[in-house]
Amino acid sequence: MNPIKTSPKKEWFDDDSFWQEVYPLMFSDTRFAEAEEQVDKILALTQPAGMSALDLCCGPGRCAIALAKRGFSVTGVDRTKYLLDNAREKSESAQVQISWVEQDMRDFVRPGEFALVLSMFTSFGYFENQQDDVTVLENMFASLEPGGVCLIDVLGKEVLARNFQPTSSDRLQDGTILVERREVFDEWTRIRNEWLLIRQDTVKCFTFHLTIYSGQELRDRMEQVGFKGVTLYGNLDGDEYGPNAQRLIAIGRKHDD
Ligand SMILES: C[S@@+](CC[C@H](N)C(=O)[O-])C[C@H]1O[C@@H](n2cnc3c(N)ncnc32)[C@H](O)[C@@H]1O
Repeated sequence: MNPIKTSPKKEWFDDDSFWQEVYPLMFSDTRFAEAEEQVDKILALTQPAGMSALDLCCGPGRCAIALAKRGFSVTGVDRTKYLLDNAREKSESAQVQISWVEQDMRDFVRPGEFALVLSMFTSFGYFENQQDDVTVLENMFASLEPGGVCLIDVLGKEVLARNFQPTSSDRLQDGTILVERREVFDEWTRIRNEWLLIRQDTVKCFTFHLTIYSGQELRDRMEQVGFKGVTLYGNLDGDEYGPNAQRLIAIGRKHDD
């Protein structure tokens, strides 16, 4: 008798229709334009020693393309085919060569290959099992060459707590109304986000949840996997991770000893 095959449990980020529906608000032309300035700031903050870069969870390639335009040899990794197809088109229009890889961040590792590894725009903290986040950090660390540098950009727990709004709504450029509901659970460990997209007479609802890290928690996890001298900032300008922080930016290095 054949054993019954069960497919692995689908998680929220496995739903391609989510990324497709939120594309216009998450990856607008303005967001793409912002990436140019962000990448200049990232390079100023991290000062990578070489020209090979990994954009982990690259989406449609905002940062990957900006890095390639600055002469980096770039690999962009993402699990969502729809977003990688967009990334491919955009890199062709920009006339840059990028290696696009469709893979889960828990599985992608290229030992010692990159001088710079990026995880931008809240692409970390996606897994119910926090050990999976540690696996991602281990992969990022392993993928760095000795002397390499990694930058993670998330919404820190302190920033979220300071600005926490259980509900908010916005009218987007294309007329869509976005209603966001947020709920913190597991004793301020995770956040559940419910997004209602109201377009004319249709409503689409998506729920997704993330682990929220405080500065200290993220630094501890990074140091646990081998990063040295992890530094925290409140934005890409390099301002302190203090009461006015807008983001949690963590930078860690792999020493070449
Ligand atoms: C908020 S977007 C950020 C995209 C990009 N970093 C940027 O700055 O525009 C998060 C990205 O993570 C990708 N993603 C989600 N879960 C993933 C996983 N398990 N493995 C790899 N990529 C994943 C999504 O497809 C999406 O492109």
